[in-house]
Amino acid sequence: MTTPAFGGEVSEFYQRFRRGYPPEAADELAAAFTLTRDDVVLDLGCGTGQLTRVLAARAGAVLGMDPEPAMLEQARRATPLPNVTWLLGADTDVGALLPVFGNGRLAAVTVAQALHWMDHERLFSAVRPLLRPGGGIAVVTNGEPLWLQDTAWSAALRDVLSAYLGTPLHRTCGTAEASQERYAAALVAAGYAVDLRVVDYATTLTVEEMVGGVFSAMSPEQLPAPDARPAFTDRVRTAVAPHGPLREAVRVRILTGTR
Ligand SMILES: C[S@@+](CC[C@H](N)C(=O)[O-])C[C@H]1O[C@@H](n2cnc3c(N)ncnc32)[C@H](O)[C@@H]1O
Repeated sequence: MTTPAFGGEVSEFYQRFRRGYPPEAADELAAAFTLTRDDVVLDLGCGTGQLTRVLAARAGAVLGMDPEPAMLEQARRATPLPNVTWLLGADTDVGALLPVFGNGRLAAVTVAQALHWMDHERLFSAVRPLLRPGGGIAVVTNGEPLWLQDTAWSAALRDVLSAYLGTPLHRTCGTAEASQERYAAALVAAGYAVDLRVVDYATTLTVEEMVGGVFSAMSPEQLPAPDARPAFTDRVRTAVAPHGPLREAVRVRILTGTR
């Protein structure tokens, strides 16, 4: 698997500007896996802890696991939570948790906006022995990338970014229907009972939040130099100005595989 670059400053932008999850998303996960205060949940590919934090209110303990030290460092520095532990590790390290969580002692594994970096078929099989009956794995996506949405401001942002990066933009980050269908089929093949839950919410962005969100999705090499960022922000501001306010309709998709 390719290791993405979420290091350095990108991790700071991620922590400050990347969308969090509404509490309703954690409610849906709790309902899907009947989570209680006796349960432990693993949030794999936790990044700076966007989903980990809302899960912490619904489980006894949550492990946030990620292979990028800078992301974990940001997660640790943000609101400390007594029932969250941060672990350095990738999808390929899940088997190492077996001696601790064998015999079905884990209630759920969540993978939010991160499965496209992993070997999902291998992961779905590796996770099964860790899960208690009624527990499961959830593949979560958190709306469309800012520059790929079906709005006039998103199209204007897309034009600015395509010109800046010198390439047309077509990334889907695993949110596309085809990826979801592939993941659902792989869950069924691995023996899980599959369901889909959605949570819709609306938000309004400032230009600074939009630019911060864009920077959180760049690799460190793609980030504009610090002294070029005000001009970059102005370019975005000018492009989206005719299309304000910058309203965003976000759909959180929670694909669950129950054991
Ligand atoms: C887009 S972020 C998602 C963060 C957070 N879960 C969210 O929903 O906002 C993707 C995360 O996946 C992590 N990641 C990349 N490859 C991984 C792998 N092989 N195993 C586990 N996590 C991985 C990255 O370090 C990054 O923090």
